[in-house]
Amino acid sequence: MARIYNFSAGPAVLPEEVLEEARTQLPDYHGSGMSIMECSHRGRDFAAVHAEAIANTRKLLKLSDDYAVLFLQGGASLQFAMVPMNLLTDGAVADYTNSGSWAAKAIKEARKIGQVNVAADCGKEIPTRVPRMDELQLSANAAYLHVTSNETISGARWNSYPQVDVPLVADMSSDILSRPLDVEPFGLIYAGAQKNLGPAGMALVVIRKDLAEKAPETLPTMLQYRTHIENDSLYNTPPCWTIYIYMLVTRWIMKQGQEKLYRQNVEKAAGLYERIDRSAFYRGTALPEFRSDMNVTFRLADEELEALFVKEALAEGLSGLKGHRSVGGIRASIYNAFPPEGVEKLVDFMDDFEARHG
Ligand SMILES: Cc1ncc(COP(=O)(O)O)c(C=O)c1O
Repeated sequence: MARIYNFSAGPAVLPEEVLEEARTQLPDYHGSGMSIMECSHRGRDFAAVHAEAIANTRKLLKLSDDYAVLFLQGGASLQFAMVPMNLLTDGAVADYTNSGSWAAKAIKEARKIGQVNVAADCGKEIPTRVPRMDELQLSANAAYLHVTSNETISGARWNSYPQVDVPLVADMSSDILSRPLDVEPFGLIYAGAQKNLGPAGMALVVIRKDLAEKAPETLPTMLQYRTHIENDSLYNTPPCWTIYIYMLVTRWIMKQGQEKLYRQNVEKAAGLYERIDRSAFYRGTALPEFRSDMNVTFRLADEELEALFVKEALAEGLSGLKGHRSVGGIRASIYNAFPPEGVEKLVDFMDDFEARHG
């Protein structure tokens, strides 16, 4: 088996242990004579998977009974719309922070539903960053304040969150479960699964249950959080395979230990940033104080060399380093499951590439 180092932003690398276990269990899940993909979503085997997936999430995020855990289809992109549909009601205004491409998409969707106040806008700044607390111009009575915890494309992140009287709503697609988090100030957290959580096919939604009551009854049933809360996230046929792998990934995170993974994430990112900053041949894209530990973005001083960098890296078994098509450059996505050895190999490759082309 030849596994390469996969720096893709998502779908992204999964823990090898998880893949091995899924492979072993694939044709005959726990003696059922069928795979988990073929089991009824109301049957005993999938019920156990689903229950463990929820229980693991509750444990990892230390959730109180005030919160519900939902696995919803439509990715994080549908959450851009579902959040305002459910929470931005009765002529209220919602505060949004614009920190880059993903925040901008959330804002665009919310504007289709209701009144939006962009409390701070640094979406187009280079080097990239997220807003500073003292820049926020909040509304008097916002329904919520939306943040994008980690901008996957630009590689800038929030280090701490604004302290406000209204519920925080966060798109945590690219850094959920990668660093310590106090969930209490958050009314709702959502994350596409395909980065730190599992394969594509669903978004994890953690919602304070009382907030779901704001949704108009006229909202289509599938678009109301209330529906999914009342049905324990089993209103319709769920993405069983994605939930199964998610369950294995969350089990793996608990086995590794969150603190250990967090420290490893910090070290992996620090190693790469140290290499970027060591010479003028490379240049970080995000302002140093806002640098992401998950998506390390950089340019080459000679941008003409970037395509060659990506091509030669791939030949060395370092895949997925091309920056997002909207911004170019280089992006190394190093989520929880990305092994430290892969970062070391990339650093060596960067040294070598500079020696040959610098
Ligand atoms: C921060 C962030 N938000 C939202 C999305 C969109 O997620 P999805 O493709 O699951 O709709 C992404 C995808 O990369 C993302 O990185």
